[in-house]
Amino acid sequence: METKRENFGSKIGVIAAAAGSAIGLGNIWRFPYVAGENGGAAFLLVYLVFVVGIGVPVMLSEFVIGRRAQSNPVGAFKRLAPKSLWPFAGFVGITAAFTILAFYTTVAGWTLEYLYLTLAGGFDKADKAGLTSQFSSFISSGPRPMFWQMIFMVMTAYIVLKGVKNGIEKYNKILMPLLFGILILLVIRSLTLPNSFEGVHFLFAPDFSKINAEVLLQALGQSFFSLSIGMGTLITYGSYINKKDNLSSTAFSVSVADTLVAVLAGMAIFPAVFAFGITPEAGPSLVFITLPMIFSQMAGGQFFEIIFFVLLAIAALTSTISVLEVVVAYLSEELKLSRAKSTLIAAGSISVLGILCTLSQGPLPKLSIGGMNLFDILEATSATILLPLGGLFIVIFVGWVMKKETVFAEITNEGSLKGRLKMLYLIIIRFIAPVAIALVFLNGVGIFGYGG
Ligand code: TRP
Repeated sequence: METKRENFGSKIGVIAAAAGSAIGLGNIWRFPYVAGENGGAAFLLVYLVFVVGIGVPVMLSEFVIGRRAQSNPVGAFKRLAPKSLWPFAGFVGITAAFTILAFYTTVAGWTLEYLYLTLAGGFDKADKAGLTSQFSSFISSGPRPMFWQMIFMVMTAYIVLKGVKNGIEKYNKILMPLLFGILILLVIRSLTLPNSFEGVHFLFAPDFSKINAEVLLQALGQSFFSLSIGMGTLITYGSYINKKDNLSSTAFSVSVADTLVAVLAGMAIFPAVFAFGITPEAGPSLVFITLPMIFSQMAGGQFFEIIFFVLLAIAALTSTISVLEVVVAYLSEELKLSRAKSTLIAAGSISVLGILCTLSQGPLPKLSIGGMNLFDILEATSATILLPLGGLFIVIFVGWVMKKETVFAEITNEGSLKGRLKMLYLIIIRFIAPVAIALVFLNGVGIFGYGG
């Protein structure tokens, strides 16, 4: 039963929702360690260039597709390119939604456990060896991480079930300001630690010799993941944007907010890491091993640790709802199911994959190929294969398949906005973005590999 499609209520609501999607574990959990592993400031510099030069145009392209078609990703390609193979690109997005949510809810569950541990004062030992063994025995234990993962999935489904305006928009408008507030507090705490300056230096003083092909490709992949582009999340959100809102300025604001949060997360984490004399290349466990160790030695540590894990959980939640919404919009519009049924089916089936992903960390060692367990495989394939592939389809579609006039009409709200940079935008999505994305993609499938 297709009733009238819901829309976001206000421009601020659109920005909160899209920024909520973009700002997530990618900014706070992934960005700091990827930056740490790839030269800190050198990585940041390349990252910024990619966000502005490629990320913003790709995001705008997703908004254009979504708002023009007024539909979920599969339906959108069907409407804009009838009787073609393009809806396949939408299915790549639906697949990506499954893979991303499966491993993402696993990590989101860990944040709830760590929030709980902090509140209950439950760390066995605060030294590195103790925290490392506590973390690895927790994530491989099975029922416990599964329990937290399911709690997280239920929260996500609850908000999505409430709908676009009364669920997604409403919660983002509350949670995003809270997230910013918490982050600022953490940055202040970190910068006022003795010897914090070294961390600032690490993040902002680029060593150009560190920039190589690997750094470039890592930065592009990270920018896609962080901006939520390449799988139709922003096609879906774009389809709920009011016809009067300015798509370009929305894409720009969302990208600025996302990047600001990544930089602030770096400023919360690196100065503290350096202040305690730890090397920043701690990998994915930076947040679950290094930080608890630091908090345990810091004045007021427990308070800051609590708000840190609340921050992480909020960031994750506003992202998971945006990914679940893609599948829910698809099921309700293409298969004509009710929102309640769609949410149940989507959350239920994704949970199965999610649980396998959690169990692959320990109890089900068979779920692995060549040393990578299901979790690693899903994380790697989504960021390095599905998102670049989806992003490539999106820019080619908007750049070469849609009529230029249609694209410009959507960007300028049928001519009522100037759209000053539209020629530059066209050049980027026709030529620059496809080539850049293809490089990442070829790297991801190993044709062009740098071996990492
Ligand atoms: N951008 C989110 C983050 O940084 C994750 C995310 C949400 C995402 N929706 C997405 C990533 C769509 C890729 C595509 O954590």
